[in-house]
Amino acid sequence: MPNVGLPSDPYALAKLAAAAILERFDIPQVDAAFVLGSGWSAAADNLGELMGSCELAELPGCAPPTVVGHGGELRIVSTSRGKIGAIFTGRTHLYEGFGVDQVVHGVRSAIAAGAAVIVLTNGCGGLNPQWPPGSTVLIRDFINLTGTSPLLGARFIDMSMPYSARLRDLARSVDPDLPEGVYVQFRGPQFETPAEVRMAGVLGGDLVGMSTTLETIAASELGAEVLGISLVTNLAAGISPHPLSHEEVLEAGREAGPRLRRLLGGIAAAL
Ligand code: HPA
Repeated sequence: MPNVGLPSDPYALAKLAAAAILERFDIPQVDAAFVLGSGWSAAADNLGELMGSCELAELPGCAPPTVVGHGGELRIVSTSRGKIGAIFTGRTHLYEGFGVDQVVHGVRSAIAAGAAVIVLTNGCGGLNPQWPPGSTVLIRDFINLTGTSPLLGARFIDMSMPYSARLRDLARSVDPDLPEGVYVQFRGPQFETPAEVRMAGVLGGDLVGMSTTLETIAASELGAEVLGISLVTNLAAGISPHPLSHEEVLEAGREAGPRLRRLLGGIAAAL
């Protein structure tokens, strides 16, 4: 029952969490936030000098993490250019059943604390045989197949460019070979069927996963610039020659760890 006695308005709750972050770590603001998805945990200690950390569950309105391979910490770092970064070592997924506001609470809180840049990472299935497991791909656009949105009411926000071209260029200044793709979010938690993967491909998708798009919408509403980066942990169902497993996802992350660390570290240093 993490929300007992707290505001029911999710934006007010995010402001409360933001105030708790600023007070706890004695910082004037947060400049950028990083959400580390499946496989990305190796990057956590390469984004700047650690100023402090706490369990996410200690912050107002945050649900405890439930997915193996996802951390549950907030770390505050100072980047080499003196920017203050908030690192979420794990995230809440829609399939965990805490509701869509909970999924985007970390992003909303970071933005309420001042973050103008949100870096969202994930592990996902790949449709493009040119991108074997271990490939990193910049997300150019998304298709949200969850059937839901973090926005309620007449909030007609523009989504013409969900992922910042400036930040994609900045990422390519670290790794010029990064390709771009379209990420398709399913609700999960079951992996997709081969027919669902074929559908995602027909729709223009290159990557399939269970996160990121709802956080992107929430960040866009609040005016933050978003960078999305996927680690292809496996070829998607029906393309992969073998059945999918969470263990395979974790193993791909472990193998890619040092590269993800360098990539995200370079991005943090260039912000
Ligand atoms: N599908 C959805 N989510 C995923 C996958 C996948 O193939 N791999 C890692 N996360």
